[in-house]
Amino acid sequence: MLNFDFHNPTHIVFGKDRLNELDSLVPESARVLITYGGGSVKKFGTLDKVIQALPGREVFRFGGIEPNPKFETLMKAVDAVKENRIDFLLAVGGGSVMDGTKFIALASAYGGEPEELLSHGFNPVPVDNALPIGTVVTLPATGSEMNSGGVISHQGGKYPVFSPLSFPRFSILDPELTYTLPVNQVANGIVDTFIHTVEQYITYPVDGRFQDRTSEGILQTLIEIGPKTIEEPEDYDARANLVWCATMALNGLIGAGVPQDWETHMIGHELTAMFGLDHGLTLALVQPAGWKVRREQKKEKLLQYGRRVWGITAGSDDEIIDAAIARTEEFFTGLGMKIRLSDHGIDETGIKDIVAALEKHGLTALSETQDVTPDVSERILKAAL
Ligand code: NZQ
Ligand code: ZN
Repeated sequence: MLNFDFHNPTHIVFGKDRLNELDSLVPESARVLITYGGGSVKKFGTLDKVIQALPGREVFRFGGIEPNPKFETLMKAVDAVKENRIDFLLAVGGGSVMDGTKFIALASAYGGEPEELLSHGFNPVPVDNALPIGTVVTLPATGSEMNSGGVISHQGGKYPVFSPLSFPRFSILDPELTYTLPVNQVANGIVDTFIHTVEQYITYPVDGRFQDRTSEGILQTLIEIGPKTIEEPEDYDARANLVWCATMALNGLIGAGVPQDWETHMIGHELTAMFGLDHGLTLALVQPAGWKVRREQKKEKLLQYGRRVWGITAGSDDEIIDAAIARTEEFFTGLGMKIRLSDHGIDETGIKDIVAALEKHGLTALSETQDVTPDVSERILKAAL
């Protein structure tokens, strides 16, 4: 096992009817800015419930944070923070709202040019102060509710922004708040959670037995409840399991002490930035192709995945790996996803553009062993055509 630090200070408040507990979670004297997206929380009544749960506070609102939140939009919220002397941010929404709110919290307290915050990759941004945030989660997918990262879109690129100051103080996870999600967003959430898990699990073995078996538990849970929570969105137990898996897949637990890949995410971010495809969908497009191209580098963990997660025991090593990749693709298509680039109008010219964007953003040595050069990324994308 590799050396690691693990620190996660977020208080999780999980279950039905917990929104009214906001009153005890947000300081009584707070001047609160509630941040939200394009309107789903208004339409389905969550915003009203949140406001009712905050009696006695000065409450302001900032809506219109778009999917793949944009720097310019978030800077308008920073202005609102300064103008109204906000001292607590409450994100009500999915990953985009939570990520955007983390950025608002950092940029509001940052003395330098806010754009600089986009240039630190996976390293912590150089800030020593940020506004406190809480979240109310309406879409289980990103794990943003219990981690310290966000992804901000700016001028055709998607930029990770990390800071230990970005962990939410608390996150309310009420599975019932997610019942109104459209089917494709539930599928995105299942796939995002699945790929967060394999990015930290299908690399090379370091005898991280707890991490491996916890990852396998998340993957098997998703395989069991994924189709059900799409077909029966109001089955509480199936949805609750998705919500908790999404949080646990990216809160640092399964990634501690093991190598991590993230090549699928980096290529996927370029697909979103260039073609506007949803984050979860881009991952389903890239991951199986990545395994096909780098099956030798990942051989031992792909075999372990095939045997333990899918129960494939018969056949040669190659046959087990082929079957594991095929079962994964069937799982994604069974959730209603179209997982070929050509299904989305992307051809060889599009692939060249993606590879150029990876080079422009310095993403030229990806994966757990940094062997994914632009040439390898091109081969992966071609395998996804
Ligand atoms: O904007 P509104 O009107 O609220 O509608 C949203 C949005 O259109 C809708 N929605 C959310 N909750 C709903 C709902 N509709 C009906 N009922 C509800 N309960 O869903 C749409 C998508 O929302 P979004 O927040 O964009 O989706 P998601 O949670 O998948 O977040 C994607 C963003 O997270 C980043 C991605 O790059 C992308 O920008 N990621 C963040 C990560 C992190 N912080 O750790 C890791 C991830 O890998 C990912 O990169
Ligand atoms: Zn993701």
